[in-house]
Amino acid sequence: MALSIVILAAGAGKRMCSKLPKVLHRLAGKTLLEHCIETAGCLDARQPVIVYGFQGELVRHTLGHLNVTWVEQKEQLGTGHALRQALPQIPEKDRVLVLYGDVPLISTKTLNAFIAQTPENALGMITANLPDPTGFGGRILRDSQQKIVRVVEEKDADKTQLAIPEINSGFYLVPATYLSRWLSNLRNDNAQREYYLTDIITLAAAENIPIHSMQPHQYEEILGINDKIQLARLERFYQQKQAEKFMRQGVTLLDPDRFDVRGDLSIGHDVTIDINFIAEGRVKIGNNCTIGSHVILRNTVIGDNVEIKPNSVIDGAEIAADCIIGPFARIRPGTVLAPHVHIGNFAEIKNSFIGEGTKIHHVSYTGDSETGRQVNIGAGTIMCNYDGVNKHKTIIGDNAFIGSNSSLVAPVTIGEGAVIGAGSTITQDAPPQQLTLARARQCTVENWQRNKKKEKES
Ligand code: UD1
Ligand code: CA
Repeated sequence: MALSIVILAAGAGKRMCSKLPKVLHRLAGKTLLEHCIETAGCLDARQPVIVYGFQGELVRHTLGHLNVTWVEQKEQLGTGHALRQALPQIPEKDRVLVLYGDVPLISTKTLNAFIAQTPENALGMITANLPDPTGFGGRILRDSQQKIVRVVEEKDADKTQLAIPEINSGFYLVPATYLSRWLSNLRNDNAQREYYLTDIITLAAAENIPIHSMQPHQYEEILGINDKIQLARLERFYQQKQAEKFMRQGVTLLDPDRFDVRGDLSIGHDVTIDINFIAEGRVKIGNNCTIGSHVILRNTVIGDNVEIKPNSVIDGAEIAADCIIGPFARIRPGTVLAPHVHIGNFAEIKNSFIGEGTKIHHVSYTGDSETGRQVNIGAGTIMCNYDGVNKHKTIIGDNAFIGSNSSLVAPVTIGEGAVIGAGSTITQDAPPQQLTLARARQCTVENWQRNKKKEKES
């Protein structure tokens, strides 16, 4: 039987106390729904059907680029009603795997085992025994032969039922023909006045359809996110798994609890990372790198033997081998550093190419520039790239030396080997190999005397 996947994602998520629909909240930088869609994409199945509803425009606007089939649930009348909306999109002979948009960390390993183990004529469900099930969902009721007979929602459960540690993940694997029969027979006579999908268990049991259950590899995989506390807990679980993965590959993390990956990170060998590191988007770190504490890397490639000192933020840059950056450096999009470049404290670099061996050691702004090799940019140098309307380029030749506190008013070119005297405001091109100064001359006034205070008369 071919496999269809439906992801239920129409709910508001009241317990999140937010105007954003729940499935658009982010875990590790990615919306909850994208996590589910990505996992669905790894299975051997048709393009997934997403049931959306609450703030539907926003959901489709945010995730409209994904290859999925969208089905609207106009009113959120419960999980059973939601799945019913998807049925017209599903070929009759398929099996249907139901996933929940607020359960983001289910693994393909667990789902593939689930698909392989569930007999084709059965209703399959994933359940888990939790140390404390409170707040995590419906409880599984079994008969004296341990057969599943019913799922009772937390809000409908009595004290004994609440004490059952086995919860319903909400993931099912069911032939589409069963669903067409059952979903039109659901009733909403329960505490939430909703059409519960969980009632298909009772219907299956009544028809003597085999109910096959399976536990996930790790129970956290099936935890749903209903409030900000559960969101934070699952974020930690995800980050711990990332940290463990990198440590297994040989990365030294000084504290795996203070290491966050929000995107795709790859790290070479013999890399040490200090505390409070954050990687966002696509980040690649080469071999033998040292990353200091409180460093943020976003969409950046770092070559081999690079040292990034504490409190540096690097975004959209390419950093070649043997560079030294920071502490407190800010490198912005469009920056390319050639090998052996040093960027020091409170230096900001934007949209610039910086040639091999160049040093920009302190407090300066380098923007929209092409800077050659072995250039020295003194403290307080500012590239005045913006005239209020347009951005202009500063070009600096190899071996130039820019004295401290100079303003280079772009567009401007500083020749190879040129020296700019400290405190200059350069508005015209400076010729190569010569000293250019653009500052008031210093003079000393002869025979000048300071005013003296008159002595008080007694
Ligand atoms: C549901 C299950 C519960 C299970 C838990 C696991 C039901 C009745 N209960 O409870 O047994 O233990 O998930 O996480 O199924 N949704 C819609 N349309 C709706 C209502 C919900 O698309 O009308 C979507 C939500 O966006 C969400 C998912 O279905 O992604 C689950 O809904 P939610 O309200 O969170 O159900 P739970 O109370 O967690
Ligand atoms: Ca839920």
